Amino acid sequence: MSDQRVVAGSGDAVGIHKQYRSIEMNTRRTSRRRWLQIFGGLFLQVGLVAPAIFTTRKSSAQQTATPSCGRSTPPQIAGPFFIPQSPERNSLIEPGMKAKRMRLMGQVVDMRCQPVPSALIDFWQCDERGEYDNRGFRLRGHQFADRKGQFVLDTLVPGAYPGRTPHLHVRVQRRGGQILTTQLYLPDHPGNTGDFLFDPRLLMVARGSDFYYQFVVAD
Ligand SMILES: [Fe+2]
Repeated sequence: MSDQRVVAGSGDAVGIHKQYRSIEMNTRRTSRRRWLQIFGGLFLQVGLVAPAIFTTRKSSAQQTATPSCGRSTPPQIAGPFFIPQSPERNSLIEPGMKAKRMRLMGQVVDMRCQPVPSALIDFWQCDERGEYDNRGFRLRGHQFADRKGQFVLDTLVPGAYPGRTPHLHVRVQRRGGQILTTQLYLPDHPGNTGDFLFDPRLLMVARGSDFYYQFVVAD
């Protein structure tokens, strides 16, 4: 849109510029009456062009932006600890777990910010000591978003392990859609900056004592 404005404005400027050159070449032969005619025409052109530019800018500002949730959520590697067919549950907390807990609330939307109902969301993570359960399904579970694409996960705050800041692994998939594999990070954790995989776009947002994240999946 702005490019079109610039081109239109340049075209008019070129037209005016040509007239100036013409004035320059014919100065000595131009009568007073002719000067008045030329400048009258120039002012008329400027008067017509300027409102056109301002009108275009005004109408551009009044346009309603196409709804967009921006780019899709960045993917990240699954790592070596994913196990398929985790149990369906929205709480990974089991009896005997005493580590600090956290709640992640969120929503799955498409590129137009429309909710993705019934999206599959599969979480897996390490415990507070940075250890994964690679034999069973401890701290692993999948769930389906509701009709509004919303979900809630109750779990433990993951610990750090060598080379990695605390994170949740997750796979998100709309029905029949591509699988988004990524990781989520804790806001303001001191280990984030030292993790080569850390991406600030994957930071969970603190909401009181809970966290929030919105997944944007490609169509
Ligand atoms: Fe991990």
